[in-house]
Amino acid sequence: MKIAFFDSKPYDEEVFKNISHENFKMKFFETKLNEDTVSLAKGFDCICVFVNDTVNEPVIDALCSYGVKLIALRCAGYNNVDISYAKGKISVVRVPAYSPYAVAEHTMALLLTAVRNTHKAYVRTKSFNFSLNGLVGFDLYGKTVGIIGTGKIGRVFADICKGFGMKILAYDKYPDQSLSVNYTSLDELFKESDIISLHCPLNDESYHLINHNSIALMKKGVILVNTSRGALVDSEALLEGIRSKKIGGACLDVYEEESELFFEDNSNLIINDDTLALLMTMPNVIVTSHQAFFTKEALSNIANTTIKNIAEFFENGECKNEVI
Ligand code: NAI
Repeated sequence: MKIAFFDSKPYDEEVFKNISHENFKMKFFETKLNEDTVSLAKGFDCICVFVNDTVNEPVIDALCSYGVKLIALRCAGYNNVDISYAKGKISVVRVPAYSPYAVAEHTMALLLTAVRNTHKAYVRTKSFNFSLNGLVGFDLYGKTVGIIGTGKIGRVFADICKGFGMKILAYDKYPDQSLSVNYTSLDELFKESDIISLHCPLNDESYHLINHNSIALMKKGVILVNTSRGALVDSEALLEGIRSKKIGGACLDVYEEESELFFEDNSNLIINDDTLALLMTMPNVIVTSHQAFFTKEALSNIANTTIKNIAEFFENGECKNEVI
């Protein structure tokens, strides 16, 4: 069986080669999948894609015309795949969970950085500037964190926050009453939270969940953390919220226009995204490059589940991790 990997990085190749099946012939393409690159999939049975590959109508049509049978996502979210168009034409499998701890722990790492100014202290002390001026932070103990989405990651993050002695407010479209969190309405969560952390998927309903109207409801000085998907946040509205000091800090592991920038070294390029460029200049905005998932444990789980998904699909014609 021949599998083409798109948007492949050296760490993907290493982990997949380590666990591969002898029947699998794997080819790793650095390029992202899109209408211009889809022809590379000719002659393969399966393609393996990541979060910023584009699987839209023309790409799906091309894959079907080449006889590709399966799209294996090596991630959990599938907002980059036109699922309704793919239905009945080609199968799609994903890795529903690989390490909720990786993402939840990174969320707390970003939050702690923001509230204790560790990012500034690191740079200062490297040049022997041991001044504390401007570095005053605040305790997380006793603060209210609003968690939007209490699925696998949101509930681990809630447990971590409980360990810090924080009060938890939660909103989920499908609340799980067995969890010991206080579910509330979205509006109440926006009004009452000192920190808001996003852990819901991106879909039509959640697109720009954080916008001018929701920011208007928030407490002055609120810290916003997004380790979920970039387009949950209207970046222009966020920038305005930061400038007006309504938002006291933003921790972003994802960004709505990340696909052309994240995971790559763009340090020699002129960045055309003015909103991102302005956000990056703000001392209270911390950006990581979609790295919340990036632990040894998660990479190994992703590779193992992806290989199992592909084997199961081609052996049985179906797979328990099928999206469609
Ligand atoms: P999950 O499916 O276990 O949980 C998602 C929760 O969101 C569910 O409880 C669901 O009921 C709820 N939900 C669905 N629509 C909602 C809405 N409109 N408003 C509020 N809640 C809603 O997913 P999991 O594994 O916890 O992942 C959450 C998100 O984290 C993923 O969708 C993905 O976008 C993101 N993620 C980011 C990673 C990173 O490296 N930054 C890595 C893995 C996931």
